[in-house]
Amino acid sequence: MSDVEIRRGLRNVYIDTTEASFVDGQVGKLLYRGYNIHDLAEKSTFEEVIYLLLYGDLPTRSQLGELDATLRAHRAVPDDVIQVLRLVKNSHPMDALRTGVSAMSAFDEEVEDNSEEATIRKGIRLTAQAPTIVAAHHRIRNGLEPVPPNSSLNHAGNFLYMLSGAEPDLETQKLMDVDFILHAEHSSNASAFGARVTASTLSDLHSAVVTGIGVLKGPWHGGAAEEVMKMASEIGQPENAEDYARNILDNGGRIMGFGHRVYKAEDPRARHLRERSQTLGETMGQPHWFQILRYLEEKTMVPYRSRGIFVNVDFFAGSIYHLLGIPSDLFIPIFALGRIPGWTLQCVEQYGDNILLRPLLDYQGPMDLEYVPIEQRG
Ligand SMILES: CC(C)(COP(=O)(O)OP(=O)(O)OC[C@H]1O[C@@H](n2cnc3c(N)ncnc32)[C@H](O)[C@@H]1OP(=O)(O)O)[C@@H](O)C(=O)NCCC(=O)NCCS
Repeated sequence: MSDVEIRRGLRNVYIDTTEASFVDGQVGKLLYRGYNIHDLAEKSTFEEVIYLLLYGDLPTRSQLGELDATLRAHRAVPDDVIQVLRLVKNSHPMDALRTGVSAMSAFDEEVEDNSEEATIRKGIRLTAQAPTIVAAHHRIRNGLEPVPPNSSLNHAGNFLYMLSGAEPDLETQKLMDVDFILHAEHSSNASAFGARVTASTLSDLHSAVVTGIGVLKGPWHGGAAEEVMKMASEIGQPENAEDYARNILDNGGRIMGFGHRVYKAEDPRARHLRERSQTLGETMGQPHWFQILRYLEEKTMVPYRSRGIFVNVDFFAGSIYHLLGIPSDLFIPIFALGRIPGWTLQCVEQYGDNILLRPLLDYQGPMDLEYVPIEQRG
């Protein structure tokens, strides 16, 4: 028996300091650069939050205007990247996004420059380009031609426009904008940690974002919203929710959209999506999605609260996307589109005071075995 201390899952291990975001899981508090997520969700825009994260404070009007113009100017992706997306048209959209971001590295002249200034510039470009990749792939897989970006629309509105070809109304744009804000940054979550590991070898930002996308894809991380909506569809009506969930829980399963490694109180981001899911469902004459989710939250999962298991950001997100007509396999890519500024900032911090991230594993296998030549192995 070895006597090393193993912190499985790196639970409660601090790997560094950060000025990006503050998360207090015991009370459910989240700050980006010191600003409360509730204020940001209610009062700001995704463009403002990108500025806040990457430059450290809220922008003045002219700073915001400059960033917004840069974002709008960099939305287009080269035809060669669109061709790559055609080759992978049958992939999951998250795989296509990962491939598209990777391909973009061939067209970014600053790809190998890991200075703070260049990393921020690349992060802004990737934030601008990634929605175009997701939307183009989605249209190609549906037998449609990509819709070029529309520079008269804001970041969220343009994404929805490139997906459907129709300009979204202002309320729908705002829903997507808030969703991007809520997903923009979350300290050393698994995908940001993955991105940091990549940056810690002094690899480039595109590689780090590709890592982040790969890590985010899993259902224990960004994939939960898709799973929640799958579950809600299988439940069908609120009266079926209890039996459905009980069957999962009694067999040792998990209800997706509940629980969090850090939050042992309600995830503060969930509030904003809960309210919007309810309003949107009622407006669209489809209140049953919200009712199913609320049943799970307010009845089935109540006993789990004493164990610190509450809804997380993904629980209500899927119902909103679904009501907006967005197919469930786009839910994770949408999370990724919101998170690119956060990954960028985590990499800026990592490069800024770099140390190779390289933990240890306690070897528990056999020792000093005698090598037997293959001819003698029977
Ligand atoms: C997010 C998550 C991976 C965090 O996991 P973690 O911090 O490692 O917590 P653990 O996996 O150790 O879970 C602790 C206990 O709570 C239970 N639990 C955690 N999440 C649960 C859920 N969603 N439903 C039911 N039980 C859950 C576990 O089964 C475990 O029970 P045990 O102690 O009896 O074995 C986990 O809560 C989960 O799988 N949630 C569902 C997926 C999800 O919504 N992910 C999005 C996160 S934003």
